[in-house]
Amino acid sequence: MKVLIFNGSPRLNGNTRTALVALKEEIEHKMPDAETELIDADRKNVSGCINCDACKHNGGECVQEDDTVEIIQKIYDAEILIFGSPVYWWGITAKLKLIIDKMYSKSEQLSKIKKKVGVICVGMAELTDPEYKLITDQFQCICDHLNWGMVFSEAFVSENPESLKKNKEKLTEIKELHRKFM
Ligand SMILES: Cc1cc2nc3c(=O)[nH]c(=O)nc-3n(C[C@H](O)[C@H](O)[C@H](O)COP(=O)(O)O)c2cc1C
Repeated sequence: MKVLIFNGSPRLNGNTRTALVALKEEIEHKMPDAETELIDADRKNVSGCINCDACKHNGGECVQEDDTVEIIQKIYDAEILIFGSPVYWWGITAKLKLIIDKMYSKSEQLSKIKKKVGVICVGMAELTDPEYKLITDQFQCICDHLNWGMVFSEAFVSENPESLKKNKEKLTEIKELHRKFM
């Protein structure tokens, strides 16, 4: 069972990656048949979708010479997808969005395969602020469009890059999210 995890934060020591690594390790521990991979969106070369629609006439491959084809194939092959992002201006980061936009290249094929999706976002604002619901709603729409099942969307509040590392209770909560995939 392939589990693909996307980190949308450019801060590799930040809260989003801390949450995702904790969940990844718990999945590896509790779901031994899981083959996990974490992709740092900021370390990938993915250009913006230009709606040229070449992918719609060649079986679903983006024609731009970057990492898109490799990443979208990994999404296609995974049964579980976890998207993690800091909140940037009430939404996910641009680097993660670039990858999501490229799912357009294989959207017909992707919608024919059942997937379980989890979402983790980390912001500075309190949980009653609208960004967390906006992000959840966006992923819910994407999942509905592709016939995928969103099994959780969780938000966490941070004060600095170390916040989650110091919050053992929250980290335990994050690890427990692996149960949603069982
Ligand atoms: C460009 C930018 C925009 C941000 N916009 C928001 C926002 O709209 N709402 C919010 O709660 N936090 C916002 N933040 C704070 C980050 O979400 C917060 O610092 C988060 O912990 C970063 O995640 P990381 O530690 O994984 O990098 C913003 C930070 C940056 C750099």
